[in-house]
Amino acid sequence: MTHPWWHRAAVYQVYPRSFRDTNGDGTGDLQGIITELPYIAALGVNAIWLSPFYRSPQHDSGYDVADPRSVDPMYGTLDDARELIDQAHARGLKVLVDVVPNHTSADRDWFQQALAAAPGSPERARYHFLDGRGPEGAEPPTNWQSVFGGIAWTRITEPDGTPGQWYLHLFDSSQPDLNWANREVRDDALETLRYWMDMGADGFRVDVALAMAKDMTYPDIDDPVGFIQSMRLDIPKTPEFAQQRARVPNSPVLDRDELVEIYREWRELMDSYPGDRMAVAEAWVLPDRVANYVGGETLHQIFNFDFLSVAWDAETIAGVVDETLAGLAGMQAPPTWALSNHDTPRVPSRLGGGEEGRRRARALALVAHALPGAVYVYQGEELALEDGDLPDAARQDPVWFRTNGEQKGRDGCRVPLPWSGDAPPYGFGASVPESLWLPQPRDWAERTVNAQQDDPQSALWQYRAMLRLRHAHPGLASPELALDVADGVLTIVRGAGFRCVVNTGPSSHSTTGRILVASDPSVTVEGDSVTLPPSTGCWLQC
Ligand code: NOJ
Repeated sequence: MTHPWWHRAAVYQVYPRSFRDTNGDGTGDLQGIITELPYIAALGVNAIWLSPFYRSPQHDSGYDVADPRSVDPMYGTLDDARELIDQAHARGLKVLVDVVPNHTSADRDWFQQALAAAPGSPERARYHFLDGRGPEGAEPPTNWQSVFGGIAWTRITEPDGTPGQWYLHLFDSSQPDLNWANREVRDDALETLRYWMDMGADGFRVDVALAMAKDMTYPDIDDPVGFIQSMRLDIPKTPEFAQQRARVPNSPVLDRDELVEIYREWRELMDSYPGDRMAVAEAWVLPDRVANYVGGETLHQIFNFDFLSVAWDAETIAGVVDETLAGLAGMQAPPTWALSNHDTPRVPSRLGGGEEGRRRARALALVAHALPGAVYVYQGEELALEDGDLPDAARQDPVWFRTNGEQKGRDGCRVPLPWSGDAPPYGFGASVPESLWLPQPRDWAERTVNAQQDDPQSALWQYRAMLRLRHAHPGLASPELALDVADGVLTIVRGAGFRCVVNTGPSSHSTTGRILVASDPSVTVEGDSVTLPPSTGCWLQC
């Protein structure tokens, strides 16, 4: 049986602001992505996912969209977007664009019209505007919290200068939530999907795909703070955290059944286009809710975020694989695997930092790429980059501001990529280091693309080798999959003699086979005996 391209795709996430700068303003741009398409294609991925490049005041790095059918001048023009899509296609790469249906920027014309209009007007009905509670409506309408910290409501001043209604924002106050019970809002999103598919986009990554439908009776939540923790990806996977996730299904704002109807419409539209268009939902839900998003009539994939916070422990890693596969059993959707993205600490930083963190990250990558389904690679992951250690004054993430510095936020994983040279800006662009939108570390000389390009021991070579074999090795295309865990060693057996062995334990592990890919130069071979020191792994032909 042949599957559409996205079933086994490797997708490279481009975060445009930090990918490559061609006009020297310290910020990446679409021409920068076009320039580096050969680099992306040479990695061996099938598709790129572009984080938002639409007109935006950048209060949340573009996830605050002022016009979803535009290109922000800081990234280029619509012609650049067209050229990027065409050139990616010419290199055999599919293109996914990000859609942000849950909220807009406060700069969007709709929101400005709502502020200027009266309570109860059609303009306000595109968002969630409510009167406050308590004397003079001075208390927020509900106790819902923002994912970025603080209360999820902001009070406006009415056009006549009096204190007015409150509007809902599950994220920053510059990101008002849209009212998806409103037909006009739904039609506008369909218009956006059409717009990008007409331009050639092969699909979409759907931002906060679990939050658009709200309980329109606006009830309070029992544990508003604990509940919102379930939306944070930077919290390690502990049993308590799993419990917090379990609360999501009854939430007035997350993972509601009304979403099914919305995504059915999206699917119908996508299916009316030629080619295999697809959409992947950013939705961290319990296995028994997955069918709402990818049950066959809705979207095509749902992100599985468990690897983003998985502990460095063979048993736990195997548990994530088992749970993920079980959650999708009987569904047409393939599993997805992601080790990092623009919202979470980079893998080496998360797994201990320094050389040890890098070793573990590279070994964990062997696991993610050896599994059936689709794999997502966040730019810079292939270079085993760590988070940038930023001075507080450089931070930009609304999370940092809304929590009064209590949470550092996500800037560390968004530092501009190092391409070449031995000092900032490391070939990111013609810019001087001072103009970079986030400063780069001084010790990245060995981590640049150029430095790794000619080093067969590098992370970059490992990623290229894994991505090539994902398609070339018949065992990775087969449905065969068996997991084994013993003494901190995880073994994944796929078809045609393929085996992935990763050692998370404290002592060396010996096995046999011919090495296809190793995560570290310390993996040694003697005859057909292979020794894996702690925190290393390899792919073997057995
Ligand atoms: C998820 C995105 O990945 C994140 O970067 C953004 O801040 C929120 N959604 C809000 O759009």
